[in-house]
Amino acid sequence: MLALISFFVLVVCTISHGKDVLLKKPDCGHQIVDSGMEIRRFAQEGEFPWAVLLKYEGTESYKCVGSLISDRYVLTSAVCVTGGFQKLVGVVLGEHNLGQSAHSEEYGIEKITVHADYKKSSQGNHDIALIKLNASVKFSDYIKPICLPSEGNSLLQAGDQIILAGWSKGTVDEPRRTKKVVVRRVITNEECQQLFAAHKVTINDNFLCTHTLNDYKDCTYPGDGGAPIMLKSGDTWYQEGILSFGATSCGSNIPDGNVRVSKYIQWINEKLIEN
Ligand SMILES: *[C@@H]1O[C@H](CO)[C@@H](O)[C@H](O)[C@H]1NC(C)=O
Repeated sequence: MLALISFFVLVVCTISHGKDVLLKKPDCGHQIVDSGMEIRRFAQEGEFPWAVLLKYEGTESYKCVGSLISDRYVLTSAVCVTGGFQKLVGVVLGEHNLGQSAHSEEYGIEKITVHADYKKSSQGNHDIALIKLNASVKFSDYIKPICLPSEGNSLLQAGDQIILAGWSKGTVDEPRRTKKVVVRRVITNEECQQLFAAHKVTINDNFLCTHTLNDYKDCTYPGDGGAPIMLKSGDTWYQEGILSFGATSCGSNIPDGNVRVSKYIQWINEKLIEN
């Protein structure tokens, strides 16, 4: 009997360890309209259909972004679900123009999982969280999941351009109520560490830093937290980062610090299996 139990445990462990429940292309990372990495201010309707809005209690209820990675899970930053915001009450999928999108669907929240090593005091390290929606999402032209890279295997190199989608207001004179697009450039962690040194931020391998392009300045703003940092490889979109922290005004020489998603693939996979 003992031998039988041990055998059973062993088999279960092996299966659960080797199991990969994350979506793979072509089941993720595709959209009905696609302007690729082209520089622009706004997304077209249906573009980046995995970018979702987190909805909080209160009037100014949109303060963070997330990304749909399966029919049940949204990836975002830990700050967005533990920070000084109001209570998170739902997730809006398929949004284009804030509060008035024909194709949007709101889901409730079943469970929030924050990385166990994330601490509010730890300057963005492990700033990653998963939101389990209260029902399975019905994918549509406007609601689709993005692919994730494989563990430890970032497709990005310093100098590469990346793209981010969100709904932050941007500068005061340029309100952006429509899903916006920010194009930025990946920098090395060494350069990032130098730029953050004065701010006592430590950049380790878990970070992916981005800066403005050399000839085009576009920035993220408060409200973009948790937004997906994306790259198109072949015909498929991958999420390489999660926006974590940066400057509150454009024009400074401060980069954005993002979670490097390829460092957390095992964690994400495990949490999806556990939940
Ligand atoms: C999920 O949550 C939404 C929004 O709170 C609610 O309208 C819906 O009825 C819930 N669905 C299920 C299956 O519980």
